[in-house]
Amino acid sequence: MEKNKILIAYGTRYGATTSTAEEISKVLQGEGFDVKVVNLQKDKVKDITNFELVVIGSGMKMDMWTTKAKAFLKKFSGEFKKRKVAIFVSSGGRALMEHKGELDEIDRITKKYLEDKASKYGLNPISMTMFGGVWDYNQISKIFRKFLDAEKENFIAAGIKETEPGVYDTRNWENIRAWAKELASKI
Ligand SMILES: Cc1cc2nc3c(=O)[nH]c(=O)nc-3n(C[C@H](O)[C@H](O)[C@H](O)COP(=O)(O)O)c2cc1C
Repeated sequence: MEKNKILIAYGTRYGATTSTAEEISKVLQGEGFDVKVVNLQKDKVKDITNFELVVIGSGMKMDMWTTKAKAFLKKFSGEFKKRKVAIFVSSGGRALMEHKGELDEIDRITKKYLEDKASKYGLNPISMTMFGGVWDYNQISKIFRKFLDAEKENFIAAGIKETEPGVYDTRNWENIRAWAKELASKI
């Protein structure tokens, strides 16, 4: 294992986790770490022995991690016990739950998306967190469009920004950068 080497490996469906992972990488590099970012939808990770810290990320859909991110957790669960790991998920749903005051739902998803995943794979992460995500009307299938059309007024009322036509981004970039900076201090 080499000091200072970090792997960020993530799964994504709509692309939000890609830009979140890149922002985390930028901050960690600024803190002096050597960071490799792998999009598990496109590339395979053969070996993690070189990395001091592995950051695993996944976008959420219907309460599920991506298949590739789950497979990555499974493949290296033994190796993860020998090094530091951190987990983040991209959740577009959380901002809507916050807006509606659904605190029980937030507790439920925090447990299901993060805590249950860590315990399922026997991980003891140095940090786990949930960031926002994107609701991209241009990429959504017809079945889900109805649901999203009904939510549109909630996006606007919750102050969620339309960053491009049809794209609502619930992320708070300051939070993402602050998390990455704190992570750097824990390594
Ligand atoms: C069909 C669909 C289902 C979704 N289900 C959930 C969900 O169960 N929980 C949640 O927090 N966000 C949900 N979202 C919002 C996603 O978390 C958001 O799009 C996020 O950006 C996904 O990460 P990705 O862009 O990296 O794929 C859903 C989005 C879509 C389009």
